[in-house]
Amino acid sequence: MNATITLDAAHPQAKVHKEIYGHFSEHLGRCIYGGLFVGKDSPISNDGGVRLDVVEALKNLEVPVLRWPGGCFADEYHWRDGVGDPAKRARMVNTNWGGVVEDHSFGTHEFMHLCRLLGAQPYVNGNVGSGTVREMAEWVEYLNSEGDSTTARERWHNGSKEPFHVRYWGVGNESWGCGGNMRPEYYADEFRRYQTYCRDYSDDRLYRIACGPNTDDYHWTEVLMQQAGKYMDALTLHYYTVPGKEWSHKGSATVFDTETYYTTLRKAARMDELIRGHLAIMDRYDPEHRVGLIVDEWGCWHDVEPGTNPGFLYQQNTMRDAMVAALTLDIFNRHADRVVMANLAQMVNVLQAVILTDGEKLLLTPTYHVFDLYRPHMDALSLNCSIVTDEAALGVAGITASSSCKDGVITVTCSNLSATENAQLLVRLDGAASKTCSGRILTGEMSAYNDFDAPTRLTPTELCGIRSTEQGYAFTLPACSVAALSFHG
Ligand code: AHR
Repeated sequence: MNATITLDAAHPQAKVHKEIYGHFSEHLGRCIYGGLFVGKDSPISNDGGVRLDVVEALKNLEVPVLRWPGGCFADEYHWRDGVGDPAKRARMVNTNWGGVVEDHSFGTHEFMHLCRLLGAQPYVNGNVGSGTVREMAEWVEYLNSEGDSTTARERWHNGSKEPFHVRYWGVGNESWGCGGNMRPEYYADEFRRYQTYCRDYSDDRLYRIACGPNTDDYHWTEVLMQQAGKYMDALTLHYYTVPGKEWSHKGSATVFDTETYYTTLRKAARMDELIRGHLAIMDRYDPEHRVGLIVDEWGCWHDVEPGTNPGFLYQQNTMRDAMVAALTLDIFNRHADRVVMANLAQMVNVLQAVILTDGEKLLLTPTYHVFDLYRPHMDALSLNCSIVTDEAALGVAGITASSSCKDGVITVTCSNLSATENAQLLVRLDGAASKTCSGRILTGEMSAYNDFDAPTRLTPTELCGIRSTEQGYAFTLPACSVAALSFHG
């Protein structure tokens, strides 16, 4: 396969919101407990119970924003159960996820501590489904008020005189499903009511996020924008890549054939169509583009690993997942003008995680490495890039790419989606003086993965053999690979 990627380096476009590289952590399986939080008394090195090896690895990704506590869990979470003396915190059964006991040892203060350690902005998702307006209003007050109220004093008493200055605020999650099975007309009214009492404190302005559609539910978007658009800062979209034909048979994370590989990529590529479809509706009600689109749950959803709790959503992560991540992040980058945040589901040990843990062991998944390769795009100005290729593999473009520019450095991320065929690539920088080029690459068989016996089987290496020619920069991109090129000078 031959492909030419041409960048328009002379006309930088919208800023790629770094929040596109955000993550999601739910009280689900071993994401929080065991993954991010082990408790102060754990033999695993921790700071206030937060796992330090995981934090170290995540700090390298410069995580911009972290969503919590759910997910479906958010609409059953009552925040006061998770503050105060841990020994006295309420116990509940996590009916959404595996029926395990939730002891609330990880609550508001622990989440804020985790965000501080990561240097990430907190994105808190409030409870509409089974909570009350008062409960949500008081959570915002507890987090952000500098005033001398009983609720703010509760926070002082629990160890934080300083408010937490939370900006991103979700009003319900999947209110069309696990968050209350509401009709869009009903949720639109609920959103208007709840957000009214989520106050701004001091100079902080709360960024109010409304629950948006599932996949291609365009009716939901229409109703929400029409009836509540002016009260929201952003609307969410949830879209998961499920390779199988049925929800009950999503397919193995590691054992799949080439046809399923391409089906997975085709399904992932649908993200572009969905973003365009929802934005077209949003634009009719918000021609000035004040309301952002947030894809706060995305990623591959496979069958759980054999022998694990079906409610824990623990799955392995192969090169196929890496290709889905690259394809999706390229789509987000190309919609930099309107997609203001995205949150991969989920951060550790759940769904398309960037880190897997097993007791004290930890490994970085191929998806982690894609996020690492894409880091330079954060807060860079996007550059238009066109791709001309002589082949489309089974309905998926053979090559995906996106590009951006920051501090005089141009970054191009590009992937060869073919499972079998190497690509000869030419990258042309229109409107830029000649530069030196270097690159890193992640490559492997489509079903290769890192496990605890071989945790570094898949790791990025230097991309060798880049030649500067009269036409542009030429190199071979092996089958099933993701590369990041930097142009300096
Ligand atoms: O990420 C797992 C679940 O997927 C979330 O809890 C829910 O919002 C979605 O259906």
